[in-house]
Amino acid sequence: MRYQEFYQKSIEKPEEFWKEQAGQLDWYTFPGTILQQTSASDFRWFPDGELNMSYLCIDKHVEEGFGDQVAVYYDSPVTQSKQAITFFQLRDEVSRLAGGLARLGLEKGDTAIIYMPMIPQAIYAMLACARIGVTHSVVFGGFAPHELAIRIDDCKPKVIITASSGIEVDRLIPYKPFVDAAMEEAKHKPENVLVFHRKLGAPVAQKPYDVDYQELLKNASPIPPVVLASNHPLYILYTSGTTGTPKGIVRDTGGYATALKFSMKYVYGIEPGATYWAASDVGWVVGHSYIVYGPLLNRNSTVLFEGKPIKTPDASTFWRIMAEYKVEVMFTAPTAIRAIKKEDPQGAHIKQFDLSYLKYQFLAGERCDAATLRWTQEKLKVPVMDHWWQTESGWPMLANMAGVELQEVKPGSAGLPVCGYNVQVLNENGAPCPAAEEGDVVVKLPLPPGCLLDIWNNPQRFINGYLQKFPGYYLSGDGGYIDDGGYVYITGRVDDIINVAGHRLSTAEMEEIVAAHPAVAECAVFGIHCALKGQKPLGLVVLKSGVSLEESSLQGEVVQQVRHEIGAIASFKKLLVVKRLPKTRSGKTMRKLLRNIADEAQYSVPSTIDDPRIIEEIKEVYKHNQVGINYTHI
Ligand code: COA
Ligand code: AMP
Repeated sequence: MRYQEFYQKSIEKPEEFWKEQAGQLDWYTFPGTILQQTSASDFRWFPDGELNMSYLCIDKHVEEGFGDQVAVYYDSPVTQSKQAITFFQLRDEVSRLAGGLARLGLEKGDTAIIYMPMIPQAIYAMLACARIGVTHSVVFGGFAPHELAIRIDDCKPKVIITASSGIEVDRLIPYKPFVDAAMEEAKHKPENVLVFHRKLGAPVAQKPYDVDYQELLKNASPIPPVVLASNHPLYILYTSGTTGTPKGIVRDTGGYATALKFSMKYVYGIEPGATYWAASDVGWVVGHSYIVYGPLLNRNSTVLFEGKPIKTPDASTFWRIMAEYKVEVMFTAPTAIRAIKKEDPQGAHIKQFDLSYLKYQFLAGERCDAATLRWTQEKLKVPVMDHWWQTESGWPMLANMAGVELQEVKPGSAGLPVCGYNVQVLNENGAPCPAAEEGDVVVKLPLPPGCLLDIWNNPQRFINGYLQKFPGYYLSGDGGYIDDGGYVYITGRVDDIINVAGHRLSTAEMEEIVAAHPAVAECAVFGIHCALKGQKPLGLVVLKSGVSLEESSLQGEVVQQVRHEIGAIASFKKLLVVKRLPKTRSGKTMRKLLRNIADEAQYSVPSTIDDPRIIEEIKEVYKHNQVGINYTHI
């Protein structure tokens, strides 16, 4: 099939196109209306359809005779355990857990938080919620109790599902004690905490609200999937915004299922029955879409990996897993490849394994540098493709659609627009940028099925953040350009969001924590280049007058506070004291200028700066502290 023709049809006849794709799913009620527009910017796909995601991911395959196929390969080098879970077993676990949740009083319309390490029970929990119409919100395990508390207060779960502990390389992560701390901090008090005991480390303290996962399951009766409206919110997934408060991206059921099923075939080019592996975490959108729902919908065996690309035990782990489970399509972040490349530059480990099943290697989550792309191409000898998407979209917006027609791979570009996404680059006046000119990357409305419905509890933030700047377009928050062949190049965020090791973080949130230190008069936190993680945060502070505090002790205190409030995942490690910060005459701190100086990128001193001499002062501080691309060695 020709890409251009297929893509064009999706843009010109979206209803016809997506009706056909919706037909690939088993609905209880096939939608009579395909696309409903309720306002200039509000579109709903399949509003009168009815279906159940848990049914489509599990029961359908069992009914069709695939109960013995492996649904999930759980591979945990950190606990030295492995498990192959069939669709039969998955149905048993999920339907009994759904029964257990119902016993706890959960029903359609309730919300539940899932805060778990990468263990099968995390997948069971998501699918059990989906089975009975409970909207889940998975919180990434690397977030600290304070972040969890913010999410508890926003989505008001009836229950939190967690595990006693997790393991980060060789360090025990106390999940349950973190939940207890969050429960204490949050204003909303969930009725129960369901705890899966892993028997790792010391037993965790019992609280009155605790329910034992294994005990609950013993007495639970399995329950079948309930019929849900297509627009029923399957999940809320919090992501960083440009303020300190994360936003809850709301995903529907029918549009998402249609889009994911479509993407497995046409973007990733994988047939049912094969093994697909996304090396991410269930706490991120990649985990939701391509560890859990996408592969299972498509009857692929999915890999649930509790480990890291290196150190668990070494840089051969990815290749071992790919060979062992005959992975056909693999998806990871460029950071993971850079980490492996650093340990094994020649790719010697790769040669020890039979990777002959591998068809495609996909990369996403952050900008992919050409060197990483080339190394992966050379070593794996299969098409290696960058692709671009966001928590908001839920599935790729730019890609090389491997299941349609393989296109040339252009280093630096995330590919061509995926069917359904009318991707454009606009200038400040809302006019399309000519080829190669950088501007805001936008998508003309309507967005295709599967994209965000709303921001939980905050519809106005959805409008203000995404729809207001260019009426009729979705604003992605990324900058970029399109070349004369239609390839799109994403150059980075145009706001205060940074991408550290493929993890999306808000510098505004870090800045709030730094600013709260009693010695700090003002501060700026921004992302600078990092050869391993793509970006890393750097903080500059101006001390209050009369305060004398060693830079190192201030740094120690603030770094600790960021770890305490956001989590180690923020990778906030460096703080420098400066005499003053560059500002516009209206008082706005010039963060982009500070970043460009550190990255030794081109910059011009803006005429609006209040005092140009400040640039020399900042350069001096950077030089003294070895900040800059010449100092960021892998
Ligand atoms: N729970 C608790 N802590 C976690 C965590 C989790 N799930 N994930 C990460 N952390 C901690 C780490 O232990 C580390 O703590 P430290 O500062 O005390 O060492 C900190 O958060 C930063 O973690 P990370 O950014 O992962 O850095 P790292 O040096 O531990 O590992 C890589 C570097 C490259 C191996 C790792 O970042 C990686 O695997 N990246 C790919 C991630 C990915 O797939 N992202 C795509 C998501 S779609
Ligand atoms: P998240 O919502 O966590 O998936 O992060 C989405 C953001 O990550 C995007 O807005 C981009 O800034 C960045 N991103 C994701 N994939 C890519 C890519 N392939 N190239 C460049 N940036 C990317």
